[in-house]
Amino acid sequence: MEIKKSSDDTAKLQPGKIKTAAEFIRGGGLVIFPTETVYGLGADAFNPDAVARIYSEKGRPGDNPLILHIANADDFFELAFESPDYSRALIKNFWPGPLTLVAKKNPALPAWVGGHPAGKTKTVGIRMSAHPIARALIAEAGVIAAPSANKAGKPSPTKLAHALEDFPHATPVLSEKKFSQNSPFSAFAEKILTLDGGSAIVGLESTVVDITGASPVILRPGAITEEQIRRVVCVSAGADFSDAPRSPGTKYKHYAPNAQMFVVSGEQKKFVSYVKNIREKNFCVLAKKNTAALLKNFDAEILVLGDDEISVAQNFFSRLRECDALGVEKIFVEAVEEKQIGVAIMDRMLKAAGGRVIYV
Ligand code: TXA
Ligand code: MG
Repeated sequence: MEIKKSSDDTAKLQPGKIKTAAEFIRGGGLVIFPTETVYGLGADAFNPDAVARIYSEKGRPGDNPLILHIANADDFFELAFESPDYSRALIKNFWPGPLTLVAKKNPALPAWVGGHPAGKTKTVGIRMSAHPIARALIAEAGVIAAPSANKAGKPSPTKLAHALEDFPHATPVLSEKKFSQNSPFSAFAEKILTLDGGSAIVGLESTVVDITGASPVILRPGAITEEQIRRVVCVSAGADFSDAPRSPGTKYKHYAPNAQMFVVSGEQKKFVSYVKNIREKNFCVLAKKNTAALLKNFDAEILVLGDDEISVAQNFFSRLRECDALGVEKIFVEAVEEKQIGVAIMDRMLKAAGGRVIYV
């Protein structure tokens, strides 16, 4: 996968802050931290009170499990059980990176780990992020359970500012000195601390792959594509990726902006003429750069998604939040071709649109 590097210099390692944030997590606190996909809201994966707080802060249904974030591939074999041989090929090729593996859970672990403390799970979603801040934080804090750092149903945050829109009470990690002088956990236990890593370079959540069966099954498409997975894993002839059992998270309303969204699918020329004939009062259009150029003199709010699929993926969630900030009632988005990362982009677009597609 070729991804453009973030130009923000906030993506630099901040060792003192990371150490403080890790200490906060070990003491039962929650931390919003960057990954290369989207920002996560993390807690000590083995602390039931802290994990329960993730669910209540997010408004997340208790039956939707959390991804366990690890810093070393070896930890996978502590958390997973009877993992198939092909899991090694996936780990070798795609970790660290935007890939989550749903494995059978090591029976020696507490029954609830990987999900809500009031429940039980037989599987665990495990991911090793490539983001230097995420990796350093997890290396210091231990295994971190983290969903995306948005309220349930809102677009995932690709910048810290987005996470702060949903969790306005979160505060930056204080300097090490001030933090330790104030006896950290009494003063900050109710808070959420934040680490800033600039803009996420992938922009869509990780590819989630079920590895509990004879062949891998994609539960959620992402930047690691089906083609890439097929290249490294010997998939039996009859295996059908489209036959995926659904991941609990996929049944909930997702990524929805406040505005009503429509995916407009068809040739570029037809898309342009469709948009020019929209008779709505308060709407905006999300389009690729070269399509937006054809709408230059058209009197409407046009936001550029990007000039290729990689940048469309990076910008999509951010543009949804910008549309909401503009206060528009409707959003019309240009569909992308459903190949490679386009599969993941269309998945998120259709979810944001509640399945509404206009074919032109
Ligand atoms: O890129 C990402 O994956 C980000 C960053 C922060 O790592 N995280 C993320 O987490 O998107 P979340 O909770 O928003 O989405 C995780 C998805 C959900 O659809 C959930 O149902 C699924 O992964 N999942 C997690 N554990 C699972 C399990 N044991 N079995 C099936 N699905 C699982
Ligand atoms: Mg999420």
